[in-house]
Amino acid sequence: MSFLSQDKVERKVGWLIALTLLTVSFGGLAEIVPLFFSHSTTEPIEGVKPYNALRLAGRDVFIREGCYNCHSQMIRPFRAETLRYGHYSVAGESVYDHPFQWGSKRTGPDLARVGGRYSDEWHRVHLNDPRAVVPQSNMPSYPWLSSGKVDGETIQTHMRALTKVGVPYTEQEIADAPKLVENKTEQDALIAYLQGLGLALKDK
Ligand code: HEC
Repeated sequence: MSFLSQDKVERKVGWLIALTLLTVSFGGLAEIVPLFFSHSTTEPIEGVKPYNALRLAGRDVFIREGCYNCHSQMIRPFRAETLRYGHYSVAGESVYDHPFQWGSKRTGPDLARVGGRYSDEWHRVHLNDPRAVVPQSNMPSYPWLSSGKVDGETIQTHMRALTKVGVPYTEQEIADAPKLVENKTEQDALIAYLQGLGLALKDK
């Protein structure tokens, strides 16, 4: 009988664990590694651009306030999902998201295609007091966002950091960033972020 016969492996729990881990990690790598090189997961789809400074600041507010704890941004390719939210999400929509906001927790609706669904004014009222527009809503109110100002000093460093992971901001866009967020409230920025979500595949 050879040194590593199945019988032996199944009797030696250490070998069983080691070889199982090896097999599973090889399988995992074989599935995951090609994704880093595949066009469909590394290239943006048509119409997807890096977030401008205001939307980027809004995205930071989204993350800071923990909106992702109740809202996914990932429409799965099932009929019930696409009927409700629109075209399913594709990887090429998220190439500039670091980190991505896909999530799976849905206390509230998915937000992947919320851009353009409501007016800016609706979002203002809703963020200040969700129950003013949806009486049965259990979403928290975020009234402080309407007075909090966007931090124009850190936005350029933030954009520069993103260029290190492949977001193609130009020097001009970085230079113009503070002007774009000047005197904007965190609520303005968050609404700009929400209003741009998912537009690339909205009517597909
Ligand atoms: C405790 C869970 C919870 C948190 C946290 C939360 N929401 Fe919600 N959200 C909901 C629920 C529930 C609804 C559905 C009722 C409503 O419209 O208020 C909703 C609805 C929404 C809608 C309307 C979506 C649609 O398609 O009708 C938007 C936009 C939204 N939330 C944005 C946000 C943002 C931005 C934040 C963070 C600042 C946030 N939510 C945080 C629970 C949450």
